Amino acid sequence: MPDDLSKAHRIEQIASTIAACRSCQLCESRKNPVPGDGDCNAKLVIVGEGPGAWEDEQGKPFVGRSGKLLDQIIEKHGELKRSEIFITNVVKCRPPGNRTPLPDEIKMCKDHLVAQLNTIRPRAILCMGSTAAQTLSGQTASLTRLRGRNLSGLNPAIIATFHPSYGLRMGESVVKLMESDFVLACSIALGA
Ligand code: URA
Repeated sequence: MPDDLSKAHRIEQIASTIAACRSCQLCESRKNPVPGDGDCNAKLVIVGEGPGAWEDEQGKPFVGRSGKLLDQIIEKHGELKRSEIFITNVVKCRPPGNRTPLPDEIKMCKDHLVAQLNTIRPRAILCMGSTAAQTLSGQTASLTRLRGRNLSGLNPAIIATFHPSYGLRMGESVVKLMESDFVLACSIALGA
């Protein structure tokens, strides 16, 4: 099987595993699992925290207000189209009331994320928000300290930025920092 076909197949298998997953309580209250979507050959993977209400309804990541801000940032900078990126979350089922996922939920769901990353093998991962940044970098500092640089030094690069919901709350100054983190992640992903 050609490599990209087997990758697409593997990504579908991971999505089926997520749909059948009963490892934590989040499966009980979710409407739909949200495994993530996009290009299984993506050079850039974006990782958020967990699905919100819109994502839970549609089974797709970042389709609500946060997703609109993410779309604006992607479109404004134009290095990559959304369809060329793979977008997912640390936890694949909506935490009730959009609370932060609990450490156990993150731990149970991490295997799914690692399986996705090992299949796609991106050059860069952009972590949006401290849940994603801390889960993938293993560092516990605040986002203000973690953002704006490569936290791994290895392939894949790990870049942290603010979560779009924080950008929506704080306005232009934070959105500008998110844009510059996105440009950094794209330039590493595209090898510039
Ligand atoms: N917030 C996230 O972290 N992920 C989504 O998919 C939507 C909102």
